[in-house]
Amino acid sequence: MKSVIDILDLSVSELDGLINTALDIAAHPDRYAEKCKGKKLATLFFEPSTRTRLSFEAAMLELGGSVIGFSEANSSSASKGESVSDTAKVVSNYADIIAMRHFKEGAPLVAAHSATIPVINAGDGGHHHPTQTLADLLTIYREKGRLGNLKIGLVGDLKYGRTVHSLIAALSRYEGNEFYLVSPEELKLPEYVKKDAHNAHFVETSQLMSHINSFDVLYMTRIQRERFADKAQYERLKNSYILTPDKLISAKKDMCILHPLPRVNEISVKVDDDPRACYFKQTLNGKLMRMALILHLLSLSDGKRLPPLSGEVGVCTNPACITSTEQELPALISETDGVRRCVYCDKEV
Ligand code: CP
Repeated sequence: MKSVIDILDLSVSELDGLINTALDIAAHPDRYAEKCKGKKLATLFFEPSTRTRLSFEAAMLELGGSVIGFSEANSSSASKGESVSDTAKVVSNYADIIAMRHFKEGAPLVAAHSATIPVINAGDGGHHHPTQTLADLLTIYREKGRLGNLKIGLVGDLKYGRTVHSLIAALSRYEGNEFYLVSPEELKLPEYVKKDAHNAHFVETSQLMSHINSFDVLYMTRIQRERFADKAQYERLKNSYILTPDKLISAKKDMCILHPLPRVNEISVKVDDDPRACYFKQTLNGKLMRMALILHLLSLSDGKRLPPLSGEVGVCTNPACITSTEQELPALISETDGVRRCVYCDKEV
């Protein structure tokens, strides 16, 4: 059985396979209309969503399956104190596959080790968002015809923007990509994301305009208000980057502008009619890739649980880590190149 918690849970050949399947679904939707007949998707969303939840649900319905779930923690028994682990065990009796969004980092990992059905991370705190990356990869592939040898500008909240973390992890596995990290000092990309992207070339700057003329892909992101402990800091940083038509004059004519959405004001609506604006196409591509992923994971599902998480109980120092709320989780630490990290949330310890 396979779950997808981190984009690195999918090999490059699996990513390429998902892209091929998604393109085939787009060309021949009728061939896929009954592929999941009799199967159920459970969408367990403890945090708000428009695109991810609805595209997962549309994906399963278009595959002939059905959908159960909840869209906020308050309408589930989490509001009475039920754990993520117990929720995953229970839902394994009702559905064939789970898509889970949670505000705690590592929650889908805990679910994956408790469930007997595949679990897909639909976004965990400021950590990972692998299925947004699938949407981003298909969009880049369709627009640029390749996933390597690209100059990619990533702009905005690179600290809390989980979509950026997963996208860098994925694109750093393709040859020749260069990442231009554009953010205020306070919202720089976490070190663990850079370390995991072993051979990638990074340029860090706070100036959007300094390299915009060389970008093949411009990936704008929202400043993530809900992740700030210091609201005054959010107010100070919220308007750091606003893409307007005049800023695009020096950009390449075939540059592709992406945004995971929702946007607040970081892309002016005046940019929407620019042929380089691809962020609404991205939402369609997200549904196609989620259809491909559901098919892939159901084909590997054998009803066997992943090994339970075991070890001495402990709590990570990151308040956003799932260990801060879930009962009796083992403290799990990984070590790479002498750096020790929490397995749930990747915080250095
Ligand atoms: N891109 C994305 O995750 O959007 P939602 O929060 O609306 O799901």
